[in-house]
Amino acid sequence: MTGYFIAFEGGEGVGKSTQEALLADYLTQQGHVVLRTREPGGTPAAEQIRDTVLSRAHEGMNPQSEALLFAAARGDHVARVVRPALARGDVIISDRYIDSSISYQGYARALGADRIKDLSMWATGGLLPDLTIVMALDPEVSMKRVVNPDRLESEPMQYHRDVADAFLEIAAQDPNRYLIVDAAGTKEESARVIRERVMQELN
Ligand code: TMP
Repeated sequence: MTGYFIAFEGGEGVGKSTQEALLADYLTQQGHVVLRTREPGGTPAAEQIRDTVLSRAHEGMNPQSEALLFAAARGDHVARVVRPALARGDVIISDRYIDSSISYQGYARALGADRIKDLSMWATGGLLPDLTIVMALDPEVSMKRVVNPDRLESEPMQYHRDVADAFLEIAAQDPNRYLIVDAAGTKEESARVIRERVMQELN
């Protein structure tokens, strides 16, 4: 039995968690076993890494170290939560995955998309989502919704523009594995578009 792995991606404040919750409820009603999880995080060790990497106490962290910490958290999350859930046949909904590293560290921190992707592929034994849903919204709009910004949310607007552009560029390269959702619409409309695509894939 193999499950199905869905990642939600996008900038800050674009409404990912609302859509994750709506999709999880819907799939549960349809009889699926759904596991909601997040990155960085999802295991005790990865949650500790999350606290470290997002803490404003670490302003100015070396970018390479930041990239390694996200990859380290991902490796533990995949080995101990995602792969076992896939083996059980669950549907996994993860708030962020590898494309966050490619966009935030690879593009916006200019560490190189290929290198950052290789690092995460190494850390996870090459696990990619079956479907990645990119929630797209102008950062000028979405960043206004962020309260109590963490270390990365406190980066300048140009950083968030680079991140948003990177997600769109990645998603456009592979329409079979990505769905871009215009997050400027109503949450009901976004939910409908997401549900239709996921049900099409699951059937
Ligand atoms: P969030 O889960 O509350 O969105 O916070 C996670 C933050 O970490 C967000 O600013 C995106 C950032 N991030 C990366 O820079 N690289 C990554 O690989 C991941 C998973 C998140």
